[in-house]
Amino acid sequence: MKLTAFATSLALAGLSHSVTATQAVDQHTYANLDDVISTHLHLDLDVDFADKQLEGFVEHTLEWKNTSARTLVLDTRDLEVDKVMYQGRNGQWHKASFTLAKRDDVKGAKLTIRFKEQAKKARVYYNSLPQASGLQWLTPVQTASKTHPFMYSQSQAIHARSWIPVQDTPAMRVTYSARINTPEDVRAVMSADNSGALIKDGDYWFDMPQAIPPYLIAIGAGNLEYKEMSHQTAIFAEPQILDASVAEFNDTQTMINKTNAMYGEYAWGRYDLLMLPPSFPFGGMENPRLSFITPTVVAGDKSLVNLIAHELAHSWSGNLVTNATWEDLWLNEGFTSYVENRIMEEVFGRERAVMEQALDAAGLRALLKTIAAPDTRLNLKLNGRDPDDAFSSVPYTKGQLFLIYLEEQFGREKFDVFVKDYFKTYAFKSLTTAEFVEYLKKNLLEKYPGVVSLEKAKEWIFEPGLPSDAPNPTSDAFDKVDAHTQAWLTGKQDLNSLPTDSWSVHEWLHFINNLPRDLAPTKMSKLDKAFNLTQSTNAERAFAWYMLAVGNGYEAIYPALDKHLTGIGRRKLIVPLYKALVKHGKRDWAYQVYQNARPGYHPLAQGTIDAIFEQ
Ligand code: BES
Ligand code: ZN
Repeated sequence: MKLTAFATSLALAGLSHSVTATQAVDQHTYANLDDVISTHLHLDLDVDFADKQLEGFVEHTLEWKNTSARTLVLDTRDLEVDKVMYQGRNGQWHKASFTLAKRDDVKGAKLTIRFKEQAKKARVYYNSLPQASGLQWLTPVQTASKTHPFMYSQSQAIHARSWIPVQDTPAMRVTYSARINTPEDVRAVMSADNSGALIKDGDYWFDMPQAIPPYLIAIGAGNLEYKEMSHQTAIFAEPQILDASVAEFNDTQTMINKTNAMYGEYAWGRYDLLMLPPSFPFGGMENPRLSFITPTVVAGDKSLVNLIAHELAHSWSGNLVTNATWEDLWLNEGFTSYVENRIMEEVFGRERAVMEQALDAAGLRALLKTIAAPDTRLNLKLNGRDPDDAFSSVPYTKGQLFLIYLEEQFGREKFDVFVKDYFKTYAFKSLTTAEFVEYLKKNLLEKYPGVVSLEKAKEWIFEPGLPSDAPNPTSDAFDKVDAHTQAWLTGKQDLNSLPTDSWSVHEWLHFINNLPRDLAPTKMSKLDKAFNLTQSTNAERAFAWYMLAVGNGYEAIYPALDKHLTGIGRRKLIVPLYKALVKHGKRDWAYQVYQNARPGYHPLAQGTIDAIFEQ
């Protein structure tokens, strides 16, 4: 089968690149952006599965900003740099001198390249190391097919530098092209036009004509086949999971159409999905034109497809309009969570959308009690920390609640116009929170005076916790579940008379999450017998049940929990379990499971869980 070429009028703005955020100071990059920026990069890389490395060169096209500058500073982490060549003004190539500084734990190693003139292009010959923080290398036994190796990148937030020497800051944008070599029976795909990857022969080319921040450069390679879902969407996956994935995600085109209507035309041409192995540490990653997706959301009933809505929403918030620094992550994830839920409402109806809001809001309210107050602000203060360490649902759900609040105050009609104009105004640009506040003030707060004060908006953005008048999404369906829960707990209703046959996964999650954390073992085993919760095939439902069971000391789950922890590497579904096990006196058991599971986890997940056991 052939992928339909999907022609689109590429927004002209997307072809421009520059440092777009005026007030951005990104503490996580060494790049000397005031002197020189890379406008395009070309990658020429071999995917070497035997040595678990990418090897080849990157060629940067340079645009000089400062007439006296002769130096290019790039971000790297755990890269071996072999040599650097540059093309001078007259077209001749020369050797450049370079120094690779000592590695900083957070930022990596600064690569300083010196030229004798303002070079047009710079070529860095390098290879990544097996421990690259932004790559995972899987042996055949760790894949669905068991026959081919697999590798993929995860560059957000600051991991692109572990596989490309690059100006690794979301304040700037580059176009890119690539030539990738793999073993002949492996297919590579990238966050780019993938038509050069349709013939599987080990030699692939890619082109990304729209300027993107470097954290969106992405690659995956493995035993990948593909199947079209619509004129604009296809799935790349190992053959064993391809059909199930297509069945699960066949609403993707509808999601795109609905989002186009609400927020302006999709700007990126095709929208394909890449199914990753279960060790992928996230639910999804919004790599442009090709979202990376965990297989743990293929539940068989579309109950977890809000993930697709989420990654698709990033095509507007995040990929089109980008946070200038990682302290502004909420501009990216908060807007995306809001848009995600609007898409879900359009495609699956208000009731489901509200249930998803309520589940997330409950999760946020629980989390706010456990993390340090400064980390509960939308505009994070990272103070040199790795963005991964401050990662939480605050930028997501608090950000979403803020936008729901504005929607409720101004009315949906006015708010939709505001959001659509915002995406258009900042398309292919990056902005800071301060710039957003200015925009909000001018285009919403002052346009309709007396509705929401600037102080109130600033309270949401800069103060810890939730404002006292924050929206508190409630769902009638959940109220009914609550009534049944109480009736059961007080002995007024029997388990088998609960209307669980009609419950959605969301109602199940609400039910489990709201059971008392000190439920007697007899009650736990009654629940388990009645509903077979320990053997749940829905990863989210299983996770909720295991959390409850660990908290309650209900030990019948342990064999299944072992399987869950060993088979899945998605941080959200495993990290809280390890923490709960340690907290509830099961450290030794958990450590044993971890020793077995660790080699199959992504470096990011390994780092997070190592830290739990080091405490
Ligand atoms: N972009 C994120 C993943 C991410 C964020 C990676 C920050 C590194 C740093 C992705 O879009 C995401 O948010 N995924 C969520 C989806 C969920 C909220 C539906 C996930 O992985 O769980
Ligand atoms: Zn996201």
